[in-house]
Amino acid sequence: MHERIGALVLAAGKGTRMKSDAPKVLQTLLGEPMLAYGLDALAGLFGPRVLAVIGHRAALVEAAFPDMAGRFVLQAEQLGTGHALAAALPRLAAEGLEYVLVVNGDAPLVTAESLGAFVATALAGAADLAFVTIELPQAGAYGRVVRQGGAVRIVEAKDYDTARDGPVTGEINAGVYLLRLAAVAPLLADLRNDNAGGEYYITDLVGLAGGAGLSVLAVNRGDDPAYLGINSPRELVAAEERLRRRRIDALLDAGVIVRAADSVRVGPYAQVAPGVELCGPLELYGQTSIAAGAAIASHGVLRDTVIGENVTVHAFCHLEGARVAAGAQVGPYARLRPGAVLEEGAKVGNFVEMKKSTLGPGAKASHLTYLGDATVGAAANIGAGTITCNYDGVRKHRTVIGEKAFIGSNSALVAPVTIGAGALVGAGSVITSDVPDGGLALGRGRQVTKTRK
Ligand code: UD1
Ligand code: CA
Repeated sequence: MHERIGALVLAAGKGTRMKSDAPKVLQTLLGEPMLAYGLDALAGLFGPRVLAVIGHRAALVEAAFPDMAGRFVLQAEQLGTGHALAAALPRLAAEGLEYVLVVNGDAPLVTAESLGAFVATALAGAADLAFVTIELPQAGAYGRVVRQGGAVRIVEAKDYDTARDGPVTGEINAGVYLLRLAAVAPLLADLRNDNAGGEYYITDLVGLAGGAGLSVLAVNRGDDPAYLGINSPRELVAAEERLRRRRIDALLDAGVIVRAADSVRVGPYAQVAPGVELCGPLELYGQTSIAAGAAIASHGVLRDTVIGENVTVHAFCHLEGARVAAGAQVGPYARLRPGAVLEEGAKVGNFVEMKKSTLGPGAKASHLTYLGDATVGAAANIGAGTITCNYDGVRKHRTVIGEKAFIGSNSALVAPVTIGAGALVGAGSVITSDVPDGGLALGRGRQVTKTRK
């Protein structure tokens, strides 16, 4: 897009109808905040020339989008969408923009294609003010588009008066506007809040612009679902379902085998290589990536996790902030917490939990184990029921286990402690001091066997 065109997202509102303390634009869809979707679509068109107006719990919103630092404008009091635009005006002027595309922050289905097509139409029509309309079977709470005597206006649902405005047509305001700033900015001073909402409506600019003799264009996008706004939990989950389906269809088209696809949820930033097999119910969120040849069985939740080639994740596994290298195996019923690393060909089995720990190449922890703050060497074997006691009640300590070491079942390794390469720890041991390479350590009571009376 031309560098004299920028975008402004209106994201200062509370979202009263969500009935939640969280700012509406931070409510998530497929694990990402609502606002991320609009910002991403706009970044595709305008690069860094995307600003956002924030207000309600602004610090939370700012913290959620560190990449937007310096591009937020504060609307300290939320007095309406027109007031939000007015709050951003000095900043838009400072950016030297000729046009601004204003988009509601509660429209996560918007796409760069749809917005780009609208902007192109508006520019081709030499409009001073253009806005998107769509056709809905029920106009609901949306602003209604009223076309009378060659002029066009938007009338908010609460203010609609059939006697004055005529029968409702089903053509509604999508909440996306392209404004030529030099022409439209002066009209902001004429906005009034003497309406049912008691707010300054951006939508009143449409009638004002027509009245001032500016060129106004309503661009009808038919039943394009890109502009559905989110005001309630019901609308939130309906939009999320649309996004989910869009993503699953794209994965199937790209050659990912998605079984039980209706119950697979893949976030917008998760990457899945062609040929991978996924089976629902399954959730892949955040910066998760899954390399070719991998298979992820059902009932898993993976967040910010890197899965290498030919990895198998069996059913019922939770992975967060983990890295699993090529050929490794996970689960069923494994939990990999942040900092868990499986090197090539390593294996964790059922009821194993790992945190900030590495299993070296080919190392195994097959059953009922906790590895926290531990480094396990290549080809080591961690017996069933092994626990690294990493926490002394005040601080965390590391456990180091050498290559090819063998830890007998039901052992407690009290950190800080090092087990040497090739060392053997007898089953049922409590190990509190280091074991040298090739050593044998037994830390348990000796069995006493007597004749029964
Ligand atoms: C708005 C439109 C309506 C349109 C609909 C499309 C107005 C007056 N009405 O209604 O015509 O059909 O969107 O979805 O604009 N916001 C601020 N500051 C404020 C108030 C709101 O930044 O003071 C932000 C909100 O965070 C939200 C967006 O503006 O992202 C829209 O506000 P919302 O209250 O949801 O407007 P609607 O009633 O849905
Ligand atoms: Ca809305």
